[in-house]
Amino acid sequence: MSVKVEQFPFPFTEDRYAYSNNSSLLKPARSITITDHYLKEIQLKRELLQANHKRCFRSLPISLESQWEAMRRIFAELAQSESEHFSLEKRGNEYRFQNHLLGEEERFTYRDSSSIELQPLDIAGRHVQEDLIIMGDRHDGLFLEAGQLCFPSNWSLTFVLGMEFKSIHTPVPGIDQNDFISKVERFISRIRLNEAWERKNWSMTISNMLDTPLETYANWGKLRLKVTDKNVGEMVHLRVEVQRLLRLPMTNDILFSIHTYLLSLNDLIQNDLWLKRLYTTIQFLSDDIAEYKGIALYKNELIQFLEKTLNEKGLSL
Ligand code: HEM
Repeated sequence: MSVKVEQFPFPFTEDRYAYSNNSSLLKPARSITITDHYLKEIQLKRELLQANHKRCFRSLPISLESQWEAMRRIFAELAQSESEHFSLEKRGNEYRFQNHLLGEEERFTYRDSSSIELQPLDIAGRHVQEDLIIMGDRHDGLFLEAGQLCFPSNWSLTFVLGMEFKSIHTPVPGIDQNDFISKVERFISRIRLNEAWERKNWSMTISNMLDTPLETYANWGKLRLKVTDKNVGEMVHLRVEVQRLLRLPMTNDILFSIHTYLLSLNDLIQNDLWLKRLYTTIQFLSDDIAEYKGIALYKNELIQFLEKTLNEKGLSL
């Protein structure tokens, strides 16, 4: 689903792309954003959860406390920041969350698993567009201990469940150059209670498909072969993940939320600065990163399309 241009979080602040810890502190601390696509994306999420629950939700028993904390935190955040659409009432340990956009409510007794039918993170994720991950902060590193993941960019929750932060990132080419990923892990371990940080990650997707897990690669990966110089603008979408890291104060674990946005190149090129930045970024992208992001197969068509558009608009770099 492509988002409206005004709501699109364009990721490039410079003309060349290099891995960086482009995180900034968020005040107030937030994990969640509601966009105009809320209803459509929630419906899609629920269909995916219904059809492929094991692919979209996984957890280790150790994550249960953090899941409770994350659910309560997300519901409280929604009730506070979007009070016309959500509310949260509390009497002792009894909670009632109301979602007026969906006409639904969730009632639960805090930390009492017999009061709910699904695990807490699985409930919370059904009310927000974000994918939600719990990273347990243990003495020997950060471990992926639970996740509700419906819109992954070519990765598998089943594969990474229980893995440590650095091992999760092993498939990314060059990510440990200059000790990058270890520095990122140290940065995360220093995030303070209730603090939230935000960064953007980007990739490209053919068509406006949000659900591109590793498990169904055979269905969507081959679309890359269908890109031609005629259909580039319509088929290729810039995919941006707004990722937020929040330290949960009771368990000291990290809630990692991922909000995925897609914008077709035809829409993106309406903005001259975005067009120029995307062009230079793609032009100088190293071969291994282009390969990793799946762009290598249609990189020529992409560059020709962007050059042609720059010329038509009379824009110089
Ligand atoms: C703590 C929560 C995080 C989790 C669970 C996570 C997980 C992942 C996963 C599963 C991938 C895809 C790996 C694959 O191809 O199999 C990935 C890619 C990546 N991650 Fe993370 N990550 C986290 C935080 C971060 C942070 C804070 C940074 C940097 C500051 C970062 C930098 C990257 C980069 C650069 C890539 C490659 C993405 C691309 O080029 O498309 N990650 N991450």
